[in-house]
Amino acid sequence: MADLIISKAATGEGWSDGSASYEKYLAPATKLGIERLIEALFKMHPPTAESKFLDCGAGTGISTSILRERHPFIPITALDLSPGMIERIRQLGLSGVKLCVGDAAAMDRTQIPRDFFTHVVAALMIQFSGDKQPDVVREFYDSLAPGGVAGISLSTDINIAEPWNRACARLDPAYEPSYVHDDKAWTAPEQLEAGMREAGFEDIQKVKVWMPMFTVKTKEDYVDFWYRGNHPGFSIRDMGAWKGNPDDVLPELLKVLGEYKDLSNDIGVASDIVLGRKPRLSS
Ligand SMILES: C[S@@+](CC[C@H](N)C(=O)[O-])C[C@H]1O[C@@H](n2cnc3c(N)ncnc32)[C@H](O)[C@@H]1O
Repeated sequence: MADLIISKAATGEGWSDGSASYEKYLAPATKLGIERLIEALFKMHPPTAESKFLDCGAGTGISTSILRERHPFIPITALDLSPGMIERIRQLGLSGVKLCVGDAAAMDRTQIPRDFFTHVVAALMIQFSGDKQPDVVREFYDSLAPGGVAGISLSTDINIAEPWNRACARLDPAYEPSYVHDDKAWTAPEQLEAGMREAGFEDIQKVKVWMPMFTVKTKEDYVDFWYRGNHPGFSIRDMGAWKGNPDDVLPELLKVLGEYKDLSNDIGVASDIVLGRKPRLSS
């Protein structure tokens, strides 16, 4: 596999544009990884009546919903850079959830208190912060009460762009996929682990998960996702390598897609989850 696509264009605005398509195509796949992340986090630090959850880069609200379903009375704060994503969570009408629009790399401490949360969930969000990734990890550390735990996941291998790249390469032998990914984005769990240790986390644990994009069942689904999805990093809008009119690629793309045995299984995202604990206060 493949090429990692982490777009420089990943701004809150970009995510708002792509939020509908994200919810339709990507969120069901990422849910698998989020379930594993939450499972591992709760195993490491079982919630109690005193717990407080922070869901950071909450997106369309998958993790917030899972947390709410598993623990109906524990307060949750859901933070995202994108007002469009936060609006989607608002529409879920979940009780006891505080919604915040903000940057995880520079938390507004009037909304996200320090030394407060028992569990921080951050699924597939940190890589969009480029050279501010260490700041995001430090902010999580600061947000946690002593003894609290954070679970942060990375996408470490993505082949979502593969059909598009194959089609372009057939039309133009000189075509070289040159993603607009942020080359500072951490692409290996060891990088995240090092960032977490640097921030002060201990008891580090790692988990791997494969998330097939099973929502893309037909060629038309892929075309809809790819041409109209508008997600930062996962759409034609961000694929700078094809210099011509993207519509000219469409017939070849449909041919390439027809060559996959099972699109819904073959296209997806591999994810690594890293968990860590803020040291307990020594007595
Ligand atoms: C790939 S989506 C993941 C959403 C959700 N956690 C999931 O796994 O389905 C990345 C999310 O992170 C948010 N995000 C990106 N950079 C952020 C930042 N610096 N602070 C807060 N949220 C951010 C985006 O707006 C987007 O909703």
